[in-house]
Amino acid sequence: MKQVFVPLLALVALLAGLFALYRSYDEVPPAGSPKTESIPGPAHKKEEAHEHVHEELAEYMMRLQWYANKLFFAGEAGNQQLADFYLHEIEEVMEDVVQAGIVDEGIQVSEHIKAYGLSYAEDFLAEVRAEGLGSFGERYEGLIANCNSCHTVTEHSYIKIITPTVPVVSNQDFRP
Ligand code: HEC
Repeated sequence: MKQVFVPLLALVALLAGLFALYRSYDEVPPAGSPKTESIPGPAHKKEEAHEHVHEELAEYMMRLQWYANKLFFAGEAGNQQLADFYLHEIEEVMEDVVQAGIVDEGIQVSEHIKAYGLSYAEDFLAEVRAEGLGSFGERYEGLIANCNSCHTVTEHSYIKIITPTVPVVSNQDFRP
């Protein structure tokens, strides 16, 4: 029974994966295509598209804030593997923003995140992998400074990220 069941399960998983891929191909616009500007039609349509861009971006930012918090406590606890994990998550969220090709009221959000967020996060991760957490505190401050520079450049200077004092969750042990 088991001999038949396992390959069957693998086949079902494969089909589900292919279907998901097909669906996402349908929905995701090609990288670099600006969402708000590419949608023609009446003004209310544009407004809807604009709302959508805001919601999408706010969701990405919530994830960045979440991971940035956990990253700090992983680093503070000297947990290299966990810091590596959260930096990788941050990198992935930023890559998603780049892929989404977001232009919001003429502001090149995806372009800015490449310059301010992604390149710094990549260097930070490379350093953690090569040298451990020796300069974590300094590097972390640099990351936050980049978040805030981008907020300024995208006309959101009132969104100020700081080094956290309390973890976002109480049910996780950040120690290695
Ligand atoms: C493109 C450059 C850019 C970078 C880099 C960036 N942000 Fe943002 N962030 C924005 C923009 C634009 C908004 C406003 C989004 C909107 O209009 O809804 C925003 C909004 C936010 C918000 C408000 C949403 C909320 O849920 O309260 C938070 C928090 C936030 N960013 C956190 C971060 C953190 C943490 C980082 C760094 C790890 C970061 N951001 C890096 C551009 C950036």
